[in-house]
Amino acid sequence: MKVVLGVSGGIAAYKACELLRLFTESGHEVRVVPTREALKFVGAPTWAALSGNPVSAEVWDDVHEVPHVRIGKQADLVVVAPATADVLARAAHGLAGDLLTNTLLTATCPVVFAPAMHTEMWQHPATRANVETLRERGAVVIDPAVGRLTGADTGPGRLPDPAEIFEVCLRVLRGRPRDLAGRKVVVSAGGTREAIDPVRYLGNRSSGRQGYALARTAVARGAEVTLVAANVTLPDPAGAKVVRVESASELRDAVLAAAADADAVVMAAAVADFRPATRHEAKIKKTDGEPEPIFLAKNPDILAELGTLRREARAAQPRPATAAQPLPAAGPELAADGLEPGGVVPRRERGAYPEVIVGFAAETHDVLANGQAKLARKGCDLLVVNQVGEGLAFGTPDNAATVLVAGGDPVEVPFGPKEALADVVWDLVAARLP
Ligand code: CTP
Repeated sequence: MKVVLGVSGGIAAYKACELLRLFTESGHEVRVVPTREALKFVGAPTWAALSGNPVSAEVWDDVHEVPHVRIGKQADLVVVAPATADVLARAAHGLAGDLLTNTLLTATCPVVFAPAMHTEMWQHPATRANVETLRERGAVVIDPAVGRLTGADTGPGRLPDPAEIFEVCLRVLRGRPRDLAGRKVVVSAGGTREAIDPVRYLGNRSSGRQGYALARTAVARGAEVTLVAANVTLPDPAGAKVVRVESASELRDAVLAAAADADAVVMAAAVADFRPATRHEAKIKKTDGEPEPIFLAKNPDILAELGTLRREARAAQPRPATAAQPLPAAGPELAADGLEPGGVVPRRERGAYPEVIVGFAAETHDVLANGQAKLARKGCDLLVVNQVGEGLAFGTPDNAATVLVAGGDPVEVPFGPKEALADVVWDLVAARLP
């Protein structure tokens, strides 16, 4: 495929070298079109050597080949990374003062922008309006990551990991549908850790790969994604809002807050069912004789709680939205443990609960029978069940599963990349959204 890599003048321009390598090493023909400002950060020889193609920022070079029209028309994909506030503005307004903006005006292929700039610039109404315009015209504008910026400051504006931008581009090149555009989805991923003392915890083997694949694929399908990540060390999926949590209690708070105005929630996280009843403030010391037993308390079942909240919201829908809604009783021990301060969730619109709720179930035996019982018990719409055990599913890039469907036939997903399973889940979710 012919890819045009537009590079504009931000400090993150050097990261585009890695993106370029990912394209060339996977067999794509890349033409780099930097802006003049980008060449102040990374010089033309670097781009020419890495791409094997001539490099110019100007429309005046090789005029006989009419590059200002030809490059854009021949491209299968144009990706601008990093895209500065300036280049977004020029693209949104159709300015054509250099080769990159000419290319953007002549390209008939999909266009991906990966913005990177200071938080203030990203949040400025002018930039917001330009991004909106570009998205309305069908461009994919990846939300920047949150993190350390050029100076000592942090915030939204960082260029996402080049490998993650590459994943978005590959999916755009494959022409996957953007059927989740305008939808808000929440994905939980990873495994919770329940503190025993300041250095020890109860945890599980979940790597977060399946949840991250769900987030990545949802972004590529156009959704606004909140990814609640419990102890995951993978790079953030480009374009997803990542909320980091550690314990089941923190995960619950983050998921319920984001679920309030979400269209779909997918609970891919492995949530600890129990936590140590007491968290020792000091490290437990080794003593002579028998160790002290660790007593456990029950954690809230977040998936079941989402189902209950939605059922109640639907039952109450005809009435107007006013007062704060009491939490459903999830077990008397919870309130006593202070997991639900005040016993209420924040005020929110009745009926604002997710249209589609998806659970995951990792089972070691009687996979389908356990899954069917769990689907009914948790009140979700879809339950992805898979067999786990030594070398199966946990930490691996591939997975096989059966998606159980409330009131429908199960869908078998053969062994393959976790992205493929994620796409099946989003196909089923999209079909259930009004
Ligand atoms: N889950 C949850 N809250 C919990 C436990 C699990 O929201 N406290 C969610 C998980 O994210 C997953 C689904 O429930 O989507 C199923 O998790 P699983 O551990 O298989 O369910 P359990 O009800 O704990 O059943 P089991 O007795 O098999 O552990």
